[in-house]
Amino acid sequence: MFVNCKETTTQDLYKILIGSIVPRPIAWVSTVGSNGLNNLAPFSFFNCFGVDPPMVGFAPAFKSITRDGDELIRVPKDTLRNIIDTKEFVVNLVSRKLTEQMNKSSAEYPPDVSEFEKVGVTPAPSLKVKPPRVAESLVNLECTLIQIIQHGNNNLVLGEIVGIHLDENVITEKHHINNDVLQAVGRMSGSCYTTTTDGLFEMIRPTL
Ligand SMILES: Cc1cc2nc3c(=O)[nH]c(=O)nc-3n(C[C@H](O)[C@H](O)[C@H](O)COP(=O)(O)O)c2cc1C
Repeated sequence: MFVNCKETTTQDLYKILIGSIVPRPIAWVSTVGSNGLNNLAPFSFFNCFGVDPPMVGFAPAFKSITRDGDELIRVPKDTLRNIIDTKEFVVNLVSRKLTEQMNKSSAEYPPDVSEFEKVGVTPAPSLKVKPPRVAESLVNLECTLIQIIQHGNNNLVLGEIVGIHLDENVITEKHHINNDVLQAVGRMSGSCYTTTTDGLFEMIRPTL
């Protein structure tokens, strides 16, 4: 079967892609609004794209898209709006024991509600940026905005990591991260998730 993307609905493309490109890591993104309120939401269109300088990207879609005559009205999600306003965010990584709170924080709370309070996680001060980090996360990446690429109805937020908080239990000597402690979760299709500690196997890269 060949899928011609130009002739396929967005809904079908979504199902195909989120089912095939798996597992996806989850960026649990904290931002602060111009109203001073902290915001927290998960995004699994997310990855790290380099280390020199360290760079991450994630893709918050629009909250709604409506038409007013010829004009398209695209309303950004709170996370995107806050990043446009403040140019800063923190990516908090999601361990198995934080999945319930992470999922709860994806509900569409109004902008005047802080998900930190609603889901019961603790805002801890960041060192280089204003948005707080999630104290319970074992890894927090403090980021400043590089660029937002809007392509159609997609937004790709690229950020430079300017500081990393590591729980002392998650790091072994020489900056190795301990999988068994981090217990990162990955997003699969639909409402499915996977853990990253079971079924690990190792393969050494060949040298010629
Ligand atoms: C595991 C998970 C991954 C998600 N990934 C994305 C994503 O990559 N892009 C997106 O726009 N929404 C994604 N969502 C939905 C947002 O979290 C949701 O729209 C949230 O309300 C946005 O909050 P905000 O308006 O405070 O930014 C995801 C939800 C969950 C539970």
